[in-house]
Amino acid sequence: MQLIDGKYTAETIREEIRQEVSRMINEGLRPPHLVAVLAGNDGASETYVANKIRTCAEVGFRSTLERLPSDVSEDEVLSLIDRLNADDSVDGFIVQLPLPAHIDVHRITERIRPEKDVDGFHPVNLGRMTEELPAYIPATPKGIIQLLERYKIETEGKHCVVVGRSNIVGTPVSILLSRNTYPGNCTVTLTHSRTQNLRALTLQADILIAAIGKPYFITADMVKEGAVVVDVGMTRVHAPERKLGFKLAGDVDFEHVAPKCSWITPVPGGVGPMTIMGLLQNTLLAAQHRVYPEHVGQDI
Ligand code: GUN
Repeated sequence: MQLIDGKYTAETIREEIRQEVSRMINEGLRPPHLVAVLAGNDGASETYVANKIRTCAEVGFRSTLERLPSDVSEDEVLSLIDRLNADDSVDGFIVQLPLPAHIDVHRITERIRPEKDVDGFHPVNLGRMTEELPAYIPATPKGIIQLLERYKIETEGKHCVVVGRSNIVGTPVSILLSRNTYPGNCTVTLTHSRTQNLRALTLQADILIAAIGKPYFITADMVKEGAVVVDVGMTRVHAPERKLGFKLAGDVDFEHVAPKCSWITPVPGGVGPMTIMGLLQNTLLAAQHRVYPEHVGQDI
């Protein structure tokens, strides 16, 4: 068994981004600017957004945190989005999910200009990704793809079983791994809560991607000998022995699954650090107008 080290890979990418920002500044350009919108005070979202803002500083990006109260109205969020859409000093922005329950996430996502949608959640970006056109790729799937690429994991013709069909991870990663490219050309099975006999499917997986948010859900009896296992789970579980009183649990029972794998990502230190890099790479692309070059200076 060998570890896919997301922490190390993310540090390598962070350095690449940092150097690119230095180059931009040396050329007289301003640094990329990311805005994060955080509505309410969900504990995990607070941590994720704080990590994003901190990593922006590490690579030389400008970042702004826009905080909104948990009882903010949908119209107020939409007005903020309109302002960020129109602000030329903002290259890209994200609205951290989950939003308070009274807000319609689809209305929010569709209001973001696709050129600034560095989360890649807007239907235009998802459609362009599916069509293999330049697009912002959602950060977690982008991180997973880069791990497979940088570890030179063979994907062509392999059976990839994705567990979990979320719009953020499962569905986009299933599309990406189906594409006619590397990493890709997999035969993909997208499984979910209504899948019958899940174990019979996961046992066929050459590449197993667990993205359901249920701690230790994937057990050793569900994994084929020699499989590549990617664990997207990051659930806070009670751990009184830890300083913060919790620890991060993956979707995979690592202790028992790892000995069967050819490659496996740990939690923490696997997909998590790569997700932030995916977001920063998208923001860099936005600042350099590399996804939507035809829209530079256009008011659309
Ligand atoms: N919540 C969990 N993951 C994400 C993400 O990648 N982007 C946003 N905006 N919210 C999230």
